[in-house]
Order: sequence, then C-alpha cells, then structure tokens
Amino acid sequence: MAGDKKIIIGNWKMNLNLHEASLYLHKLSNLIQIRRDVEVVLAPTVLTLQSLSLQVNLRQFKLAAQNFYWRDHGSYTGEVSASQLRGIVQYAFIGHSERRHIFNETEKDMRNKVAAAIRNGICPILFVGETAWEKSNNETRDVLHDQLNSGLANITSHEVKDIIIAYEPVWAIGTGHNASPTDVALAIKAIRAQIEHLFGERQAKAITVLYGGSVTPDSSNDYLAIDGVDGLVIGIDSLNAFTFSEIVKKAHKGSALAKIRG
Ligand code: 13P
Repeated sequence: MAGDKKIIIGNWKMNLNLHEASLYLHKLSNLIQIRRDVEVVLAPTVLTLQSLSLQVNLRQFKLAAQNFYWRDHGSYTGEVSASQLRGIVQYAFIGHSERRHIFNETEKDMRNKVAAAIRNGICPILFVGETAWEKSNNETRDVLHDQLNSGLANITSHEVKDIIIAYEPVWAIGTGHNASPTDVALAIKAIRAQIEHLFGERQAKAITVLYGGSVTPDSSNDYLAIDGVDGLVIGIDSLNAFTFSEIVKKAHKGSALAKIRG
C-alpha cells in the first residue's frame, strides 16, 4: 500500500466557472486544515486551472487536470498538452469513464497519455472500471486486466510506483448506486494482482489505488476502510465545499482511528 496517507480528490467535471471556482477554493481553504495524513486534490475544468494554481496553497491542496492530449505541442486544435500543464498541476486524469464512453478515447490514447504525463513530471491517475453489462456478465476481472495491461503497456517497473490507479465502476458513477465494499475489495485485489503480475510484488504493494463512484460523507469511510484502498475520487459531492470538507475530515479521523487500533 501507498502508506498511511489518504488521497481525496474532488472531480468537478464540467462544473463551476472561474468566479465560482475561486469562491469555492476560498471557502474550502477555511474548512480544511493541512494534515499530513490526508492529501486533498482538486480537479477543476481546464479553464480554471491556471487561476486556481496561482491562488492555491500547495501545502493545503494539489491540482489535477481532468484531461489532456498526449503530444507535447503541435497542430491539435482545441487540445492542451501535459507539457503545457507542467507546473500548473501535480496530477492528471487518464481514461475517466466519461472520456472512454462519451468521447470514445481508445486504449492507445490512454497509454500515450500515461507516458506523456510521466515525461512531463505529472503523476498520472489511470481510471479503470467495468460497465453494468460487463458486471452482470461477471467480466469485471477481465476488464480490469485488459485496461491495466493496455494503459500501462509503455511503463517500466521503475515508473509504475509513480502512477495512481482509480477504480470506478461505470455503473456507480453519478447514479447513487453504491458498490458494495465486498465488490470493491475484490476489484482492488484484482488490480493489485495484475500489477504484481506485470511489475512484481513490491510494486503491487506500493502502488496507490483509489475508489470512486457515488461516494458520500456517509459512505466514504466504509470505502477507505477497505484493505488496499488508498483514497477516494468524489464527483457530485465534491461540488459543495462543505460536503467535500466532511469527507476530507472523516478521512483524517478514520486514519487517526486506524492508527490507534493498529
Ligand atoms: P460521482 O461521485 O458523482 O458518482 O462521480 C464519481 C466520479 O466520476 C469521480 O471521478
């Protein structure tokens, strides 16, 4: 596991304009104290990233890009590259299910993006997860296997420790359908087993694995308590600064409790 630190990410998706994002950041910074055991990452739209990067206290919050193009520069109208995001974000999403399913991003796009993020000193967060149809056909393990094999195809075992995997079952995203902790535990185990197969036991233990999909302040600590889950990605409930801060505070309390028990 990635150690004691939990990562809580707010994925704002295509919400909050420049003014709203700035107000949100101000509000959230008053609600959240800097803790060494919880890292808070905000993923606003690309439009607001730069201005937030100037306002943000990096000891309190890190920033993530929701998407980027894998080439560093060139004639790619409408795109932003990892080399342009360098110095603005610390993390970048790759293959979120909305990119895979709405924008038809391919496995080749994913692996090129993973390599581009690493090349530019940005930590890639590779999203994996099965659809409802795949789940009902008992294909979760195969889907995770294929997505990891393909997304990490250009990566060396030395680089894999700098990558984060986010498990988000597609059917649990934005639906309020909660994945059971047992299902999540099985999927996380399958992810680490595949990393072990590809890169070895040490890498499988060290890699950071997150969970996302309809997580709320009521359910967050149940997911964080699952063995092998190092953090959460929050969609809808990250859009309200107070609700999101509740999840962050619970993650801190949860890890404090775990330490006392341990
Ligand atoms: P919800 O929390 O809205 O289900 O979104 C999850 C997600 O897609 C985070 O990346």
